[in-house]
Amino acid sequence: MLRDTVLPAGTQVLISPWAVHHDRELWPNPEGFDPDRFDQPVTPMSFIPFGGGPRKCLGSHYATAELQVMLATLVRVARFELAPGVGLVPEARLGLMPASPIVMDVRVEPTRSLGLPSDFAGADRVV
Ligand code: HEM
Repeated sequence: MLRDTVLPAGTQVLISPWAVHHDRELWPNPEGFDPDRFDQPVTPMSFIPFGGGPRKCLGSHYATAELQVMLATLVRVARFELAPGVGLVPEARLGLMPASPIVMDVRVEPTRSLGLPSDFAGADRVV
């Protein structure tokens, strides 16, 4: 049963994570950039980038940790801005993809380093 709809046994159901993540009943201000929204407890199954239930992604904790370390490392050493004239247009394929390449201007902060030993090749390069 899906709300008031009874589904026959064996029905194949496709769930759009994008639609769930933009549902105003689950997320106030769903279009806003608001990382602090995750400071509040999240309703079960309202955030499903890794799916959910017994077949949920096995690598979700690893992937989340990897992305957090990568992002923290990059924003510590460089500033990223969309190149002039570049827009962000999402396109729904199997997953949600950018409709065209996201071209960015990357400015490496010369005073910052990745914290690697000074003899490490390319220690201050992120691109
Ligand atoms: C950002 C990175 C990743 C995303 C967004 C992602 C997303 C997903 C999604 C949506 C599913 C289907 C879940 C479902 O059927 O409800 C899945 C399944 C799975 N993922 Fe990932 N995944 C990621 C990274 C990884 C990594 C790094 C690994 C392994 C190290 C991994 C291993 C698996 C496995 C084994 C399954 C199948 C689980 C099953 O069917 O029981 N994933 N993933």
